Amino acid sequence: MAAQITTPGTIAVTGANRGIGAAIALALARAGYGVACLTRSGGVPETGDSDLRARLVPIRCDVLDEKSVSAALAQAAKGAGGLIGLVNNAGLHTDAKSAELATADYERLMAINATAVFVVAREAHPHLVRAGGGLIVNIGSFFDKLGVKRNLAYCASKAAVGAITRCLAVEWAADNIRVVDVAPGYIVTDLNREMMAAGPLRAYLDKRIPRGEPGSADEVARLVAALYREDLRFLSGETIYIDGAQGIAH
Ligand SMILES: NC(=O)c1ccc[n+]([C@@H]2O[C@H](COP(=O)([O-])OP(=O)(O)OC[C@H]3O[C@@H](n4cnc5c(N)ncnc54)[C@H](OP(=O)(O)O)[C@@H]3O)[C@@H](O)[C@H]2O)c1
Repeated sequence: MAAQITTPGTIAVTGANRGIGAAIALALARAGYGVACLTRSGGVPETGDSDLRARLVPIRCDVLDEKSVSAALAQAAKGAGGLIGLVNNAGLHTDAKSAELATADYERLMAINATAVFVVAREAHPHLVRAGGGLIVNIGSFFDKLGVKRNLAYCASKAAVGAITRCLAVEWAADNIRVVDVAPGYIVTDLNREMMAAGPLRAYLDKRIPRGEPGSADEVARLVAALYREDLRFLSGETIYIDGAQGIAH
């Protein structure tokens, strides 16, 4: 099906089945790209639009399993126009008091949020080179620069995403590959929708976020799609915050 569509190329998105990843996959499909949806379930985001659905290619992938990642990227590279992009979105959030945080729980979060970002990018690299270059967008978090109670592992993992982004941007510039970290603030997704709709967290956030409310997955997705569409060749290695100015507010 993917071979029949007209597209400037295929972009792989990890964790594309729900939340921010699903919104990104749909925004990229709307922008005309083929989207390789790398998910553990082998699912794609729901859409009633058959033209969009035709651009979404389901590929099973567990980002913690290197063989699965390697096979998934090889399959994605067979998509229409070859592999011209990767969005490292899959991630996990857990919290715990640092004094009680088990090493195994710390390492599990680092494995999904940081190590997998490097591994998936490394496995995408030969395919991007074959396509003549491309853009990797890593989904970080504005927690990368904050000190947050009970969030030591998550903050460390997202700071690592910023570092991985900078190193790959410098090293792979010669391959015509750009790497950007898109770092959201609080975003309403299925996971936190109820908590964010009302109650103490929502009241706190409405006061703390200068724009007065949390963001949506669609806002993050439209930023990511714009980065692909606009082809800003001098932009690489940076972390772009999309947090309603919360991360810089005093
Ligand atoms: N929501 C926010 O407020 C917020 C803020 C800043 C940054 N972020 C970042 O944005 C990204 C997406 O977050 P979200 O809020 O959309 O989270 P979410 O709704 O919990 O979705 C997480 C996604 O990651 C996938 N995933 C987890 N482990 C995986 C694995 N081993 N292999 C493949 N996929 C795996 C999940 O797949 P399954 O369905 O199979 O579990 C799911 O698709 C994450 O990197 C997160 O840290 C989120």
